[in-house]
Amino acid sequence: MNLTLKIWRQKNANDKGKLVDYKINDVSPDMSFLEMLDVLNEQLINKGEDPVAFDHDCREGICGACSLQINGEPHGPDRLVTTCQLHMRKFNDGDTIVIEPFRAKAFPVIKDLMVDRSSFDRIQQAGGFISVNTSGNTIDANAIPINKNDADESFEAATCIGCGACVAACKNASAMLFTSAKVSQFALLPQGRVEATQRVLNMVEQMDKEGFGNCTNTGACEVECPKGISLENIARMNREYLMASLKG
Ligand code: SF4
Ligand code: FES
Repeated sequence: MNLTLKIWRQKNANDKGKLVDYKINDVSPDMSFLEMLDVLNEQLINKGEDPVAFDHDCREGICGACSLQINGEPHGPDRLVTTCQLHMRKFNDGDTIVIEPFRAKAFPVIKDLMVDRSSFDRIQQAGGFISVNTSGNTIDANAIPINKNDADESFEAATCIGCGACVAACKNASAMLFTSAKVSQFALLPQGRVEATQRVLNMVEQMDKEGFGNCTNTGACEVECPKGISLENIARMNREYLMASLKG
């Protein structure tokens, strides 16, 4: 396939940035999107030009590092996949593909297609953990019986990889889907109930401090989430937050 790429180039956080056109030929439909960018970068390096900066790590859909807005959609046109799992067969010969960073006030651009998502880390640090005594013998994993449905729902919430696509998809740049997944994975388990009140209050407070917008129930986050995190988690977090506020 021969393609035209329109890629956001921005030298640093203070640069204004602009879309720059690149032609790339002989792209195999079996390449991943990131492999296609690797080929482009090799060509740029060989010409003595600055390669395009983009985030990636595992390249198998588990780390959440890759984060491109492709033709206006976080992680591109495929469903339930990350950018690293997106294949070029989803595009056609002669296509023009617009590639931008995730856009949100709380995700400032570092360079080109890389954004700073440390706001998510700070939300996690505010309460996305349980406090356990790690001295002495390890507690048997089955010591606390857990309802199968709760275990499954908690596991599904825990599959959130913190990629930020939900924020990039939302017209309000809301981080409710991410935060609610991190609240839910603990709220559904007895071990997580001990600190549940403070957890939800702290994580929501940090989310607001970081400058994320409010949820207006448009559901774009759920559609674009590569892990299929359900909007039900937002409803659960709202209930948790209400109960915690009343207790507080
Ligand atoms: S909820 Fe989905 S889109 Fe949002 S950070 Fe988690 S995995 Fe990514
Ligand atoms: S590089 Fe790890 S999820 Fe894409």
